[in-house]
Amino acid sequence: MADALQRLVGQFENDPSLLEPNQLRRRLEALDRMDAYFPDIAQSAFGTESTDADLCRQAKAICARFEAVNSGLYEAVRRDIQRGLGSDTLLRWLHAPPKEEMVTPADGMGYDYLDELISGVFQFEEPIAGHAQKEPEIVPYQPTPARHIFGLIGLAALTASDVLVDFGSGMGHVPLLVSICTQARSIGIELEANYIQRAQQCAQSLNLKNVTFLHQDAREADLSSGTVFYLYTPFTGSVLRSVLDRLRREAATRRIRICTYGPCTSVIANELWLEAVEAPEPHRIALFNSREMSAAP
Ligand SMILES: C[S@@+](CC[C@H](N)C(=O)[O-])C[C@H]1O[C@@H](n2cnc3c(N)ncnc32)[C@H](O)[C@@H]1O
Repeated sequence: MADALQRLVGQFENDPSLLEPNQLRRRLEALDRMDAYFPDIAQSAFGTESTDADLCRQAKAICARFEAVNSGLYEAVRRDIQRGLGSDTLLRWLHAPPKEEMVTPADGMGYDYLDELISGVFQFEEPIAGHAQKEPEIVPYQPTPARHIFGLIGLAALTASDVLVDFGSGMGHVPLLVSICTQARSIGIELEANYIQRAQQCAQSLNLKNVTFLHQDAREADLSSGTVFYLYTPFTGSVLRSVLDRLRREAATRRIRICTYGPCTSVIANELWLEAVEAPEPHRIALFNSREMSAAP
């Protein structure tokens, strides 16, 4: 174990490019590889010999340096967002790594370095999950992976006349990124008061004016201003049915669009009043247009 860690320490010490702020993805991979040793170091005799203890100190010092560069980077991105320049900054990151170096697939649920970036920039305080998370038909909170949120922003081509409504917005990743990266207004609707509070704190600290978070049940919220409605499978069964029926009534008065991610996509694909823009798949963002009501069966 000590030999392997020694090799890693040597490799990272001799690669100053890892300290360049734009090398976030490589730095996060390096931190992951080093992290794998620390629980063992704490539990085993490893670290008691003076050479091992030195190695351990060196490894921790490298981690601290990498984390300091990451913190500086997150602060710089926060400042850009506060000055209204967040869209260009974040989109640069989205296109940063050459395609062949991408370690995670574009599709699928897994999180990647973009989620680390967003979490470092948003700096949410840890929320306490409330009772709603335990009710049947309520899907517990997990955020849409950041690359899919950017996928949504690209696919829906949101403009200043759009209002995106995220049903079950959790800590607000989707409305916050929409507000940073587009001219559209965004609204997050969420049952958990704690999540709403965290999302509002984040919007305020980033000086975002075009995003609102409402502590409400999606079945009761006012949908009249929404033009694009997003669901990352927030609920199932009768709750999903009730919200889809409300959306269908909205669609009787004007054209709306629905974006989905996850298992709810297959349920929503069966709604006859909706038309998929392209063949929907649950592990990618899907986009549906409401049909002209006279054309809807
Ligand atoms: C899978 S998470 C989606 C989080 C967020 N939309 C995202 O994509 O990052 C589902 C969220 O929906 C919320 N939720 C479930 N039922 C709800 C309801 N009836 N009204 C409002 N929010 C609800 C849950 O509390 C949870 O935070």
